[in-house]
Amino acid sequence: MDKPKVVVTRKWPAEVEATLTALYDVQLNEKDIPMSADQLKYALQSADALLPTVTDQITADILGVAGKRARIIGNFGVGYNNIAITAAKAEGLVVTNTPHVLTDCTADIAMLLLLMSARRASEGDRLVRQQQWTGWRPTHMLGQKVTGKTLGLIGFGRIAQAMARKAHHGFGMKIMFYNPSLPSQAIVDELQAVRCETVEDVLTESHFVSLHCPGGEATRHLINEQRLKLMRPSAHLINTARGDVVDSNALIKALKEGWIAGAGLDVFEGEPHINPGFLGLDNVALLPHLGSATEETRIAMGNRVLDNIAAFFAGQEPGDRVV
Ligand code: DGY
Repeated sequence: MDKPKVVVTRKWPAEVEATLTALYDVQLNEKDIPMSADQLKYALQSADALLPTVTDQITADILGVAGKRARIIGNFGVGYNNIAITAAKAEGLVVTNTPHVLTDCTADIAMLLLLMSARRASEGDRLVRQQQWTGWRPTHMLGQKVTGKTLGLIGFGRIAQAMARKAHHGFGMKIMFYNPSLPSQAIVDELQAVRCETVEDVLTESHFVSLHCPGGEATRHLINEQRLKLMRPSAHLINTARGDVVDSNALIKALKEGWIAGAGLDVFEGEPHINPGFLGLDNVALLPHLGSATEETRIAMGNRVLDNIAAFFAGQEPGDRVV
């Protein structure tokens, strides 16, 4: 029997590409140049599986292309708001993602940004590099203490819980969270976490607020001007979720006018383009979407896609099926 044909939209870790090459008739993307809408349409027409990632916009228009051969989309990423899910379902396509394997690394980046923002690490690094550091002094670059403070989480899924564990067990932080559904009582008890009824309660009470909700229309600009004004002037906002959860212009205003003390961002509205308003601000730490960017995690994400498509082609239910 012929090997199934699969199209990979971006460069993947070498060892995962080697496995793909051994198992499938695979089209890799050696040059790592994003594919155009027409190339994505052609991939759906010519291959059995399309393996995109979180930066490929798989729109309803692309999914609706006539004469599709593909029956599965194996997304490399836990978030799948890059895929028009309703359209995929209507087209009878199976869609999978890569949960679990990036939980700890993404939570590490959230904790890193929290520490960077609280202790003014980006600003300090710039000062040293620009040779403007004139020496230690009692009032130089004072930030906020992290240990023992309150961390508020918006969304309390796997990544939020992993961050809460690091913050609570490692830094003695008190945990509050808002989540539409009830999490397991065991994790709430372990972290002595307080469940808030509203997003507003978390924003008002926390010294640090970290966002962990999915992207998409339902959460677009969840953090807006009105909500930023509820935060403490000494508070910090951390976003490792999706850029469009935060209204960038409102956040820039908040950082400039001192409604909050700082922010740490790994994701941006319209990334990789960054709202230029952030670039001149000292009280924001900026990272280029590094949440899952470790060798171990990216290999594990690739292997997760491999498991999903292997199950699908064997006529079984893929473990990480989302539609
Ligand atoms: C995801 O997987 O959704 C992240 O944003 C990238 O790892």
